[in-house]
Amino acid sequence: MMRLGPAIGATVLSLVGHLSLERVLEDHWPWLYRNRWRARGITFLVACVAPTIRAVSIYSGHGQAIAPYALIELTFFACAGSAVGIMKTFFWLYGKLTYFLRRAFAKRAAHARAALASDAREVAAETKPAVESVEVEPPQATAAEARGASVTSDDVEETPEIVEGVSPLEAKVRAAMAAFEKEEGERVSRRLLFERALGATLLVGTTSTVGWGIVRGRHDFRIEEVVVKIPGLSPKLDGYTIAQISDVHVGTFVGDRELAEGFEKLRATKPDLVVVTGDLVDHDSAYCELFAREIAKIAARDGTYCIYGNHDYTTGHIEVAEALARAKVPLLVNQGLAIRAAEGGFSLLGLDEIWGRYWSRGGPNLEAAIATVRETDLPRIVLSHQPKTFRDMAGKCALQLSGHTHGGQINPGFRPADLIFEYVAGRYERNGSTLWVNRGFGTAGPPSRVGAPPEVTRVVLVSG
Ligand SMILES: [Fe+2]
Repeated sequence: MMRLGPAIGATVLSLVGHLSLERVLEDHWPWLYRNRWRARGITFLVACVAPTIRAVSIYSGHGQAIAPYALIELTFFACAGSAVGIMKTFFWLYGKLTYFLRRAFAKRAAHARAALASDAREVAAETKPAVESVEVEPPQATAAEARGASVTSDDVEETPEIVEGVSPLEAKVRAAMAAFEKEEGERVSRRLLFERALGATLLVGTTSTVGWGIVRGRHDFRIEEVVVKIPGLSPKLDGYTIAQISDVHVGTFVGDRELAEGFEKLRATKPDLVVVTGDLVDHDSAYCELFAREIAKIAARDGTYCIYGNHDYTTGHIEVAEALARAKVPLLVNQGLAIRAAEGGFSLLGLDEIWGRYWSRGGPNLEAAIATVRETDLPRIVLSHQPKTFRDMAGKCALQLSGHTHGGQINPGFRPADLIFEYVAGRYERNGSTLWVNRGFGTAGPPSRVGAPPEVTRVVLVSG
């Protein structure tokens, strides 16, 4: 709870602050807003300060460096700021469009008014001479009173009021225009009311959605069961179970509690083999020991195998390898082994992460991994952090298990990750091979999951 409090508080503050400050400046301190860039600079600072405070508050209790996490947060909120900018641009365009439409309608109404007024003058000219000065007629009821008669409703005729220099017909036109303008004013105020309600709903909706993902969504672990036909697998191994977890991101927001929750599901799959497809740690190599210690406790008959993810490289791939070695959990880097070879099993091949090309001059190399397995005739199951390697693996393996995408992580009714990734979550087939993309275990960036619950995959193999 100590970590959760400041995280929620600062996230809400950041969102509310960024979304509302510019409006507040404009409404209450227009002198400040006279310089638009100065106002925007202040709102940007506010958007950056809150997550920085969050990072400091979180880390100050642990004595760890704030730089990497603060950088991630700043990037996230800069992106969020850009999104707000795009929305504002959209509403600016919307405002311009409605302004031009309103002007067009106003012009049409003015033309109609001018035409009616012209008709009125023509009628007046035909029926009687131009009125120099016309007395305003008293109301009909007053006239009746003047006759000394009792006033009844029949005495009151609906005659337009005549004012100086204005004919009855033109008075009618004026009354019609006044009614039109009144109706127009009511329509505009209804639109303003609608826009305010929509803005408030969006603000509350986005904030509460992300908040739900922080408090509940990231703890909502699910087991996904997938049955995969493996051509060449012995029928003796029908029902063989591989449990996959991915993107654990152990660190500030994935600690003892989250590991206990997720690993309970992992044990519940009763796996023959456990695989962890990368991003074991989030941003701080100090957490490597925690992950290695806990994963080593998972007892599977054929063991537990890990591969690198991009975060493991940016955090410290050497430290990750050392921690796993101390816990006696094998790490496969373009390496493989035969699983149940005597029973007609399969070869398990762990690829290096793509980012390994930049950190260790490595990177995924299927041929190198195949070369480490003596039994060359076994069907292949490949572990690769990024699913995009499936473009090369398809047709060369029976199954690829991946992660990396987090299933989009925050999907507010739609999945933005679909715009970026070819493979986001779940099952894909290509050239006779199957790809499974795990939604991940932890979080990266905002500690929230919406529409992408954390996943433990139970892969059940059947002979093909
Ligand atoms: Fe990840």
